[in-house]
Parts: sequence; structure tokens; C-alpha cells
Amino acid sequence: MSQLNAPIADPDSVDAAIKNRYSVRAFLPTPVPRDLIEHILRVASRAPSGNNAQPWKVYVLQGAKRDELVRLVSAAHEQQRAQPELAAQLRSDYDYYPHQWVEPFLSRRRHNGWTLYDLLGIAKGDKERMFAQHHRNFSLFGAPVGLMLTLHRSLAEGSLLDYGMFVQSLMVAARARGLHTCAQAAWAPYASIVRPLIGASDDEMLICGIALGHADPHAPINTYGTPREPVETFTRWLE
Ligand SMILES: Cc1cc2nc3c(=O)[nH]c(=O)nc-3n(C[C@H](O)[C@H](O)[C@H](O)COP(=O)(O)O)c2cc1C
Repeated sequence: MSQLNAPIADPDSVDAAIKNRYSVRAFLPTPVPRDLIEHILRVASRAPSGNNAQPWKVYVLQGAKRDELVRLVSAAHEQQRAQPELAAQLRSDYDYYPHQWVEPFLSRRRHNGWTLYDLLGIAKGDKERMFAQHHRNFSLFGAPVGLMLTLHRSLAEGSLLDYGMFVQSLMVAARARGLHTCAQAAWAPYASIVRPLIGASDDEMLICGIALGHADPHAPINTYGTPREPVETFTRWLE
């Protein structure tokens, strides 16, 4: 059957996989079979890209390699707390966040952070617990699978657009198979540690990580749901 005529048997399921994808920040240690990860990557690779360049490159870390990543980067993050001057040595390969936030993005960002901290009972100014929450990024929130995503440096900003489509497709495909994810820009500043560990060349930029696995259904943090602006806020209809 051609792609043109392939029926989407249940459009509501497509919507449901998109709408019920959310960032899970507590996973069970339950392993994920390799063929399931491969399936999800194959589906995600149908994402469109300019000139079909398919700029994504995925490193799948499990078992001892995953543990090594967690150990090395968690240690670097701890060390950075003890010696804040070390932060200057950390360099992301690209700016994911702006240097200066302006409205309306600043308010949304603040709302996101404080709602999450409220849920966890973290008071404003409790730097210790804020650090601890951020630190959980570097254990992949307990997920047994860590994906590290890189992009060849020769490519242009447009490839980041392609990359986003790939990442979303991957996360939705995972959700459709009962798995959950959390995209993680938190790894980006640790590119100089991650790159040699995964065997990536210096030509590869570390775009982000993704924690992949089974959600812990009892973790309070996984009850966190984020709001979205209504369609009329971001849409202008012109005729
Ligand atoms: C590329 C990307 C990087 C992200 N990085 C992190 C991260 O490092 N740590 C984290 O806890 N959440 C991270 N998030 C999750 C966002 O905070 C989350 O997507 C947003 O608040 C919307 O919530 P939702 O994903 O539950 O719909 C990231 C999301 C994206 C798309």
C-alpha cells in the first residue's frame, strides 16, 4: 500500500500519543528491549528534513555504558557546585536557551519552574534541593536507557529544525509503545565529557539527551502536567 493511501485507522490514537507525551522525571529500572528501541528509532527516522539530509545521529546507552555516563557527569556536576569557577570551562556546542529571557517567555519559564518546585515541596531559595532536582538529570531520572543526540558541525541552523522533528517523532513513537521520555538539554554543557565517552568525534555537536524507559507510576513528580497557550494566542488568521 502506498503512503498516499495508507489509512490512519485511528486518528484519535495519533492525537492521544501526541497529547499524552510528557516529560517524565522518574523512571523504573525495567529494561527496554533493543528491538523496541530500534523500532522507535525507525519510526522517528521518517521525520522530514531539508534535502532529506537526515542530520540526526543517536547513541543508545544502556548497562555499563549508561552507568559510566551517569557517574562521570554526575561527578562533574557535583564538582562544579564545590568549585563554581569550573562552570566557565563547560561549554555547550550551541545556545539552547537565550542569554536574556524576555516576556512572555520569561513568565512561562518561571511558572514552569515554580510549579514543579511547589509540587516537590521545594521552597524558593532552597538552593540545596534545587540543585538536587537538577542533579537528577544526570542519572537520567533513573531511566535504563539514555540517548545522546549529535549533529555534524558542518550543518546549518536549519538542521536544528529537522532535529526537533526527529526528537518529537521519537518521543511520540515511544509513547505509543507504552514508554515515556524526557528530553534533556541539561547534558549539553557536558559535551566535552560525553563526546569521548560515547565515541563521537569533535565534528559532532551534542544537541541533547533523552531519558527513555517505563515511568514510575507512584512518583509524585510524574503527576506534573504543563499548560499550553490556547490556539488563538499563537495564531493569526489572515484572509
Ligand atoms: C529539547 C528539550 C530539552 C529539555 N531539557 C530538559 C532538561 O534538561 N531537564 C528537564 O527536566 N526537562 C527538560 N525538558 C522538558 C521541558 O521542561 C518540557 O518539555 C516542558 O516543560 C513542557 O512539558 P512537557 O514535556 O511535560 O509537555 C526539555 C525539553 C526539550 C524539548
